[in-house]
Amino acid sequence: MRTIAVLNQKGGSGKTTTAVCLGAALAERGRRVLLVDLDPQYSATTWLSTLPVGRGVFDLFADPRGTSLQAVARPTATPGLDLAGASAWLVGAEKALSAEPGAETILKEHVAALPAGAYDYLLIDCPPTLGVLSVNALTAAAEVLVPVECHVMGLQGLAQLAQTVELVRRRLNPALRIAGIVPCRLDARTNHGPEVVAKLRARFPETTATAVRENVRLAECPSMGEPITAYAPASAGAEDYRALAAEVMAREGGEGGRAANS
Ligand SMILES: Nc1ncnc2c1ncn2[C@@H]1O[C@H](COP(=O)(O)OP(=O)(O)O)[C@@H](O)[C@H]1O
Ligand SMILES: [Mg+2]
Repeated sequence: MRTIAVLNQKGGSGKTTTAVCLGAALAERGRRVLLVDLDPQYSATTWLSTLPVGRGVFDLFADPRGTSLQAVARPTATPGLDLAGASAWLVGAEKALSAEPGAETILKEHVAALPAGAYDYLLIDCPPTLGVLSVNALTAAAEVLVPVECHVMGLQGLAQLAQTVELVRRRLNPALRIAGIVPCRLDARTNHGPEVVAKLRARFPETTATAVRENVRLAECPSMGEPITAYAPASAGAEDYRALAAEVMAREGGEGGRAANS
């Protein structure tokens, strides 16, 4: 199983859109995907859940021995895509956990307890902070995908993010690496968007070949309760997330792939 944290401490960078639509595109290709919503604003859960979530992933942290990722996971309307949903309960978790020694490894232990072979991919939609919930994601994951809004402002904070990933790698998770910086919301009609992509490519060789274009269908689909692949399967947004899924899948079996992280 590949475990991928979708992280950027900047809000509105495209994390939830990427976690949901990449997850759906991987599921479309026959992969079994578990999406874990770690955001106290639970937007991925609002988007995808069809079944009651209850307290959801909060219980994984509040009562680690009393529940499991498998018990919290629910199928979504997309075959192959399951969701471990979040709830407003998660708002208090950040503060409570920061006072608890060793809280960084709680999610990692739950991931390790998943039955072998249950999923091919575990995607974690992170909150827009570098707090203890995001550190849990970075400790549980082997790979980090960083969606970046294609705007000069979008580049801010990337150095701090890379520093946090490096600290977690040194102290808690030697296998961790930034697998991809994903340019999101690219408006190719202006000079500005492509300039930002060029800057990203120059600064970060791990920038993905796929840039996700600004696409109104992507903005619409959360309120329709469907990932882009179901809501507008022929849209540019669906095309881009399928291309991103193909790029991610091309690394299966390689470094950070099944062999290294199963
Ligand atoms: N490629 C895109 N085209 C159009 N709208 C997008 C695109 N990517 C994200 N959005 C919209 O931008 C907003 C922020 O995206 P979101 O994925 O929720 O970011 P984050 O999870 O990082 O806060 C949402 O309203 C989302 O629908
Ligand atoms: Mg989000």
